[in-house]
Amino acid sequence: MRPISRRRALQLGGLGLLGAAVGGTGLAWPREEFPAPAAGGQLSEPEALRSADGVLRVRLEAAEGPLTVAGRPATAYGFNGSLPGPTLRLHPGDRLQVRLVNRLDAPTNLHVHGLVVSPEGNGDNVFVTVQPGESFDYDYRLPDDHPPGVYWYHPHHHGMVADQVFGGLYGAIVVEDAEELPVTRERVLVVSDITLDRAGRLQQPSSMARMLGREGELVLVNGQAQPTFAARPGERERWRIVNACAARYVRLRLDGQQLDLLGLDSGRFAEPRRVEEVVLATGNRADLLVTATAGSSTLEALGVDRGGMGGMGAAVSGDAGPLATFRVTGAAASGLPPLPARPQPRDLRGVEPAARRRLILAMGMGPGMGPGGMSFTIDGRAFDPDRVDHTVAVGTVEEWTIVNTSPMDHPMHMHVWPMQIVAEAGRPVEDVDWRDVVNIPARSEVTVRIAFDRFGGRTVYHCHILDHEDNGMMGVIEAESAA
Ligand code: C2O
Ligand code: CU
Ligand code: CU
Repeated sequence: MRPISRRRALQLGGLGLLGAAVGGTGLAWPREEFPAPAAGGQLSEPEALRSADGVLRVRLEAAEGPLTVAGRPATAYGFNGSLPGPTLRLHPGDRLQVRLVNRLDAPTNLHVHGLVVSPEGNGDNVFVTVQPGESFDYDYRLPDDHPPGVYWYHPHHHGMVADQVFGGLYGAIVVEDAEELPVTRERVLVVSDITLDRAGRLQQPSSMARMLGREGELVLVNGQAQPTFAARPGERERWRIVNACAARYVRLRLDGQQLDLLGLDSGRFAEPRRVEEVVLATGNRADLLVTATAGSSTLEALGVDRGGMGGMGAAVSGDAGPLATFRVTGAAASGLPPLPARPQPRDLRGVEPAARRRLILAMGMGPGMGPGGMSFTIDGRAFDPDRVDHTVAVGTVEEWTIVNTSPMDHPMHMHVWPMQIVAEAGRPVEDVDWRDVVNIPARSEVTVRIAFDRFGGRTVYHCHILDHEDNGMMGVIEAESAA
């Protein structure tokens, strides 16, 4: 039995479900599909694998099998038998060598989301296919000036990405700072969602859920339901938060604690920003400082309205409620030194773009289309791995206006080259704001500038609602070096 919170009771009451949640001896977990998650355990973190002497060699085995999800036995996907997989900790200039072993019954591959590495050969090449029973050796070389921050890895085999990520295949990557920040401790918090049936097996989403972007019934932190963790007043923690959900956006709050956002994705702010909440679209990450204040605080994932298809359904990312409890007790910790100054981030607004492009994200209706009878396109076309949609020149800066004509938001993601947001709905953005996933609100547009530097090669940009990506909302970009 799990005590039901007043807030949850109100939500259920509003949905007319409260009756169903009342069991013989009191209130029971309202979900029929999965046995009540074992909530409230101690937070655990995925195993951290660190590079030594400039190299990190890892074997990642993707398999479906018995795992622990939300404290219960489940049959889901995992890397090396866990969900999330191990955290990879690297330094700029490192080499990361991953042997990916596919023990799934479908093709897969690996993508290092956000890392600024070559997309070619056995680098971050999403065109690689690793068949069941086979393996592939990836070799990534991080440039010496690779931006520090939090990244993540997940499969990227077109058509299977949503299923494989939703099933549990993801893990965090941290690229360390040249000079460690003065903090009491660091935590990696991977937020993900999943739906399991009564026997703990993965549930297939409906076609409507795939059209809107599937959202899991269980929202987890490091594979756990509502874990608890503790600190002393005055301690300063650095949280690396990954939104690894297949489609869900989260609005994170931690009332009662002081939050300073150091950056989002690979983008680092010159000055930390004091915030009340952080909104992460699917794929986004936050690098957050938490200064502990006595008391018990709840990390909550509140809902985000990401549009909808009118009468066909709303794409509201539901209010997931409490994700974790942070208890701050004990003797006050002594103060930490102030944070060292950061260099100003690069600002592309002073550069005249070599080209300006407009990309149109659209959803259309028609027979023989994808889930919900919808097609998902960029510039009127669905993804074709054999077609190059945009060719750019290595070393140039371009300005892309990404237009969303559909009634749903689409989080646009670009591999290899991060994007600086320069205007939203035509209004200039004041701050220097870098992301690798930029939300394009329904029936609106966002303008970004991109420096196509460091690497050439062929890769992709796509909607990070992984069902949309799998159904065609992805394009191919090729960066060519001048002859
Ligand atoms: Cu997180 Cu193209 O991916
Ligand atoms: Cu990516
Ligand atoms: Cu989308």
